[in-house]
Amino acid sequence: MRHKQQPDWQPRRWQKREQQRKAARKRLWLIGSGIAVAFGVALGVLWLFAWQRQTSDEQYRFTSSHYAGVNSKFLLRDTTREKVSIEYPLTPSDTINAFIAKEIDAVDAEFRSAAQRGSPFDQPMTQTISYQISHHTDQHLSITIHIKQDTFGAHPMAATRFWTFDKATGQPITTKQLLGNSEAGMRRLLTIARQQVAAVAKQRGLPAPDVDSITAEHFEQFAIANEHTISFPFGAGAIIASSYGEVGVTINVNELISELQHPLAKQLLSVPEPPKPATPPPTPAPTPRPPVSRSGACGDSPCVALTFDDGPGPHTERLLDMLRDRNAKATFFVLGSKVGGAAGTLQRMQREGHTIGNHTWNHPDLTKQPAATVRDQLLRTNEAVKQAIGAAPTTARAPYGAVNPAVLGEMRSLGLASIMWSVDTRDWADRNSAIVCQRAVGNARSGSIILLHDIHQTSVDAVPCIIDGLRKQGFRFITVSELLGGTQPGVNYYSG
Ligand code: NI
Repeated sequence: MRHKQQPDWQPRRWQKREQQRKAARKRLWLIGSGIAVAFGVALGVLWLFAWQRQTSDEQYRFTSSHYAGVNSKFLLRDTTREKVSIEYPLTPSDTINAFIAKEIDAVDAEFRSAAQRGSPFDQPMTQTISYQISHHTDQHLSITIHIKQDTFGAHPMAATRFWTFDKATGQPITTKQLLGNSEAGMRRLLTIARQQVAAVAKQRGLPAPDVDSITAEHFEQFAIANEHTISFPFGAGAIIASSYGEVGVTINVNELISELQHPLAKQLLSVPEPPKPATPPPTPAPTPRPPVSRSGACGDSPCVALTFDDGPGPHTERLLDMLRDRNAKATFFVLGSKVGGAAGTLQRMQREGHTIGNHTWNHPDLTKQPAATVRDQLLRTNEAVKQAIGAAPTTARAPYGAVNPAVLGEMRSLGLASIMWSVDTRDWADRNSAIVCQRAVGNARSGSIILLHDIHQTSVDAVPCIIDGLRKQGFRFITVSELLGGTQPGVNYYSG
């Protein structure tokens, strides 16, 4: 029997083992799938949580606007990095709504990426976008978008976009179309605009702006303020340096009577009868761009001062390489709070012939601070610079260009001259090297003080283009103190 049992016993043992293996496999499979399910659930929960977080900081609500037939869509984002409120207009025309939303979204995308990079001052960046309708008929709609951003570490932006739409096509009407393609009309408009801007600057007690930099390009779009008034509600820095504040231009219909004698203009505005042909309206000759001035310390060869605010930062050493390679001198308005870890960079600036100015400790609006804080902000920075390079600055630039007699008084007592700027590249707003270069090169005159920020990579990237572009026109690059031929403490300087 043994040899009969033998084969019988073997398979049984084999079967038992097989059963055990099966049970073990089943257990393994159960444990494995248990783990997989648990993992899946955990992933799902995490994803839900992330999705919730993502969507919960962006909220929408809809309201009726106080404009007939127009509603508003509000977008709100409120996080530790940004506080955003955007009001989109919802007009009866989907084409117009899409046009405006595209413009707003482009501005917002730029702001969002700045907010992602984070504020250098541990405060949330703020952005408010709203709109105003100044003219609305069955055929036309004039709308102005107001953009206010404070991204800190730069200058708060108060920009606008404005259009007058043809509701039938959903497209904006250009100023050129409004003027019946009259070149004389556009020249007349520019002359009036330049006069207005110069008058506003005078009224605000500011030095005469370079009005020749105001060109037809700024006037491509218009808004209708009322039946007698064409309006160009420019934000700060749109047509002249932002240190002049917001400068709107308004043109009375009576000033362009002959150019507005066509059906489109008459639909939009209440246009008086044209003057008698016996007295044709004078068409002023275009104001030629004056040659480069030969004033001040620049002497016979034109010069400019490149100034870099808010650093030193991660791009400053690379900027110093560019300046060295091109034999250009610059002025750095540094934040005292950033000097600590960057003594070597400041020493290099000094060694390579650049000037270091005071841009306060951490960038507050000095006009909103008590005197003791103003003094502390300036003094601490002076001391930090002195510790780094052995000498305190003699120039300062107030954050946002915001000065008043009290701030200038503190600067005077600390031996600091106040340096503003005459060419604003708006580099903090655009973050586009080509545009920054174009603004700097296109607007520079001999004696210009050009405002840039070396904390932005795009601004530093624009520097070779700026230097090469201006050098072709014969410009030299010197420090602010050289350009001004020395400075007086407590005096406010805009250009050389
Ligand atoms: Ni600044």
